[in-house]
Amino acid sequence: MKILLIGASGTIGSAVAKELEQRHEVLRIGRSSGDYQVDISDSASIRRLFEQTGRFDALVCAAGNVTFAPLDEMNAEHFALGLSDKLMGQVNLLLIGREFINDGGSFTFTSGILNRDPIRSGASASLVNGALDAFVKAAAIELPRGLRVNSISPNVLVEAMPAYAPYFRGFKPVPAADVALAYAKSVEGMQTGQTYQVG
Ligand SMILES: NC(=O)c1ccc[n+]([C@@H]2O[C@H](COP(=O)([O-])OP(=O)(O)OC[C@H]3O[C@@H](n4cnc5c(N)ncnc54)[C@H](OP(=O)(O)O)[C@@H]3O)[C@@H](O)[C@H]2O)c1
Repeated sequence: MKILLIGASGTIGSAVAKELEQRHEVLRIGRSSGDYQVDISDSASIRRLFEQTGRFDALVCAAGNVTFAPLDEMNAEHFALGLSDKLMGQVNLLLIGREFINDGGSFTFTSGILNRDPIRSGASASLVNGALDAFVKAAAIELPRGLRVNSISPNVLVEAMPAYAPYFRGFKPVPAADVALAYAKSVEGMQTGQTYQVG
């Protein structure tokens, strides 16, 4: 398969690349790194990406920014980042990407544990993650041509704990390699409309 991997240099993306590159052609995509560049918060940038890559069989997005801040310090602008980047960025990857994806292809998006298990300063992440999982469930029943869509909802990663540990006390982190298996299941399996919780 020809697979577009957005966020390929990241904590999750690099593990997904390692898993999928064993069996597939993986195009590594980042905001500033990789074989191709895209800013998922910009629809024109997304369209330019697909015009450069050409048609593909699967798209994986392991990218998406949100603001982490205590709720009593947040205003609408703080939420706007998560809405335009992690949420609508991934929704737009499907809305625009469906013009370029081959029959039977799949979209795999990244949400996260925080809508199920919230933390302090995580309100925007929780909101966006819940919306993404809901979008995947709904979009799957309307996609034509055998297209599929799933989301991966990981716990905090072992590899992210050096930076994230103070925010995730009591959470049991999951290795990136285990998270990568859920992406492989989404891309290489047959299920659709699913959210795979890892850890
Ligand atoms: N790390 C965790 O423990 C964890 C757990 C659950 C969920 N998640 C979610 O998983 C996603 C990825 O997390 P991560 O920790 O793997 O991230 P990361 O290590 O910070 O890597 C982010 C990757 O995404 C790319 N990127 C960032 N903003 C982008 C944009 N606007 N458009 C296109 N590409 C962009 C970066 O490209 P450049 O390198 O070129 O800048 C990089 O390749 C996030 O949505 C996060 O909330 C992470």
